[in-house]
Amino acid sequence: MFQAAAKSVSAASASAASRGILSSVRRYCDKTPTKLRVSEALSAAELGARVKVQGWVRSVRPQKANLFLHVNDGSSLQSLQIVAGSELDDPSLTFGSAVEVTGTLKKSPQQKQPVELEADQIHVVGRCNPLDFPFKIKERHGLEYIRQFPHLRCRANAFSSLLRVRSEATTAIHSYFKENGFLQIHTPIITSNDCEGAGELFQVEPSGPEHEEDERFFSVPAFLTVSGQLHLEVMSGAFSGVYTFGPTFRAENSQSRRHLAEFYMVEAEVSFTQSLEDLTKVIEDMFRSATEHVLAHCAEDVDLFHKHVTPGHRETVDAMVKKRFPVITYSEAIDILNRSSQKFVFPTDWGCDLQTEHEKHLVKHCGNIPVFVTDYPYDLKPFYARDNSDHPEHTAAAVDLLVPGVGELCGGSLREERLDLLRARLEEAGLEDTYSWYMDLRRFGSVPHGGFGLGFERYLQCILGVDNIKDVIPFPRFSHSCLL
Ligand code: 4AD
Repeated sequence: MFQAAAKSVSAASASAASRGILSSVRRYCDKTPTKLRVSEALSAAELGARVKVQGWVRSVRPQKANLFLHVNDGSSLQSLQIVAGSELDDPSLTFGSAVEVTGTLKKSPQQKQPVELEADQIHVVGRCNPLDFPFKIKERHGLEYIRQFPHLRCRANAFSSLLRVRSEATTAIHSYFKENGFLQIHTPIITSNDCEGAGELFQVEPSGPEHEEDERFFSVPAFLTVSGQLHLEVMSGAFSGVYTFGPTFRAENSQSRRHLAEFYMVEAEVSFTQSLEDLTKVIEDMFRSATEHVLAHCAEDVDLFHKHVTPGHRETVDAMVKKRFPVITYSEAIDILNRSSQKFVFPTDWGCDLQTEHEKHLVKHCGNIPVFVTDYPYDLKPFYARDNSDHPEHTAAAVDLLVPGVGELCGGSLREERLDLLRARLEEAGLEDTYSWYMDLRRFGSVPHGGFGLGFERYLQCILGVDNIKDVIPFPRFSHSCLL
């Protein structure tokens, strides 16, 4: 009883104290401006509120009585207009400088923007000398120009739009897999296997003289991954749908507009497949759902590309989203190429690999929408591709997705789940010891399965119409270039 009374007295005094603290916090908050992102300020939800906005100056227009600024913080393509009395002007308020602006959000008299910030304080946080700054006010710099400044190009409108699209597309791809019951697997970046057998590997060793005499760090040769496929295949022995989305490395000595030494790949593996259609359905659905998400959530950013970088590309994207992707076999593709009046540089005989020029022609032939090409010559595909056991043309159940402007976006196959066929092929290549663990997967509860990989940068090129892959990744790595 006594204890209960003591508790209620102390509870009463504690709640009075907390009421006091709350009201002083409220008094403080009334005076303290709310910190808003530019996108939040532009939404006009806080009209009349005293707010603080932080960002980088995109334009400065001093007039007799007023000073007009545009401030951008990367949260949207649009900048927030700041209006201040000319007494707040300061020589260090230049294009590119970082500022903190406090004031009141007002409805803007101009139609172009819904709100503006009437500033009573402008603090220059970081100066920027506009003469030395490589980007100039009011100039629309091309992607090739800004590529020379990997440490600064996120300040240019086009590249900040690209980064928002890239981030949103990443979210969309993860959402697609989550909504469709796939489990995300963090496949390793350092690996001792060479998935493609193509020999385009970066070897991983510790650096420094202290390691020179050492035995190998991992005791076996280790490489940066060229694909997470084999690790996903391990997991597809216990989960019916798995995926991974991470960096992938290829030591390709290529300066092309669609190759990087480090790129991001989305890879999925589906167990209990019946046919290639199980894979083409996932690829097509994922492509459509990610693209619709990006068009809906990054409309302004996508428009910037479609208006100023690749005018006319929007119709292509709309068609890609609306129309079903046609499916042709490799043999049909070869027929189409051989019947074409176009002269190709590379041969188009049955058995030859399709080159970019062929892929682009096939896409055009199919109406400039993505097209699946299936059932490639068996000898062109890696050991894991499922043998179609057909005659006289010996093919494998492999599929590529070719898309406008880019060519190959995805590569995948059904995997050889039959131990005897797999063993024969590995023995032929002298790889039976290296891949004994892989054959184990076929020994213990093997099921028909298959998967694919989609080059994420090529996907961004495809939906934005960007010609050079180096313009859709924050820090491009390619032969003879590893800036920053
Ligand atoms: O066709 P690839 O080589 O397929 C694989 O790696 C399979 N193991 C994937 C799987 O089945 N899980 O690569 C898949 C995609 C290509 O279609 C292409 O879009 C992209 O990855 N790609 C590259 N993107 C940029 N730079 C490079 N050097 C690329 N190499 C492949």
